Amino acid sequence: MQIPQKRVTKLIDHHKVAAFPPQPRLKRLLEAAVKSPEVWNWRDSSASACTNLILLDIDMTDAIRPLIAGNWKMNGLKAQVAEFDAMLNGAADVTGRADLLVCPPATLIAAFADRARGKKVTVGAQDCHPKASGAHTGDVAAEMLVDAGAAAIIVGHSERRADHGEGDALVRQKAEAAWRAGATAIVCIGETQGQRDDGQTLDVLRGQLDGSLPDGSSAANLIVAYEPVWAIGTGLTPTSQDVEQIHGFIRELLTSRFRADGARMRILYGGSVKPSNAAELMAVKNVNGALVGGASLKAADFLAIAKGCP
Ligand code: 13P
Repeated sequence: MQIPQKRVTKLIDHHKVAAFPPQPRLKRLLEAAVKSPEVWNWRDSSASACTNLILLDIDMTDAIRPLIAGNWKMNGLKAQVAEFDAMLNGAADVTGRADLLVCPPATLIAAFADRARGKKVTVGAQDCHPKASGAHTGDVAAEMLVDAGAAAIIVGHSERRADHGEGDALVRQKAEAAWRAGATAIVCIGETQGQRDDGQTLDVLRGQLDGSLPDGSSAANLIVAYEPVWAIGTGLTPTSQDVEQIHGFIRELLTSRFRADGARMRILYGGSVKPSNAAELMAVKNVNGALVGGASLKAADFLAIAKGCP
């Protein structure tokens, strides 16, 4: 179990707690998760009446709320607004389990965002240019996407890495562009079939995380999506054991680089997620939601996937 350090510090300030109480559970949690001397020093002082409040708040922050994100890729004309309306109508039934995000093609962001206003689905984008404006024919800036209504921007999807030769340095710049515009960055990583066959999966993922995630990444501004390239659009998925191992590995790297924020960052799984396998995949440790391609185009499937969240 991990506790966000900033959150603990904030609670202490807020409640004017003189010390962490000598409660074994709280002590254990803090010892496991908080390494900062600033917080650590409180440990041996006297207890306070705010113990229960702290415990309550920490319990509330333990679970990472799942996110089910739909990536419509290069699919969707104005007529598909009706499908999005069906998602909006069904969202109330599933948002007890997960947050919902739909990333349509750029041409539909404004229309979707207008319809989603006041509803329980957020709208996002699939890519952005690293610059805010300029002579870049055909490109779209993060600022433009946010202006149209996008709250999150996918960057580094394997289809962009493959189709457009995008490397980690560019992906990192795009993530920073998303932040500059005020959007959350969803950074995709994943190994190809060949890399997997050569036993390079963990090295590839480490390299992509090191290179694609900017310094300053936090649980609030960045989401990691693990999408094995060989599982995208193929109907194939890794086993639950493989997903657990890889998401655990990603969590370790995030926590070692971003500390408490890394412990709280969402790690989505993507690649052939559908209603029939969602519950099993979403139950895996350190899977904090899904990035869904094909099955996100149909409201019934997309909502059924969200219902699969524990
Ligand atoms: P599929 O769900 O169609 O396999 O696509 C996954 C994906 O690439 C989402 O970004």
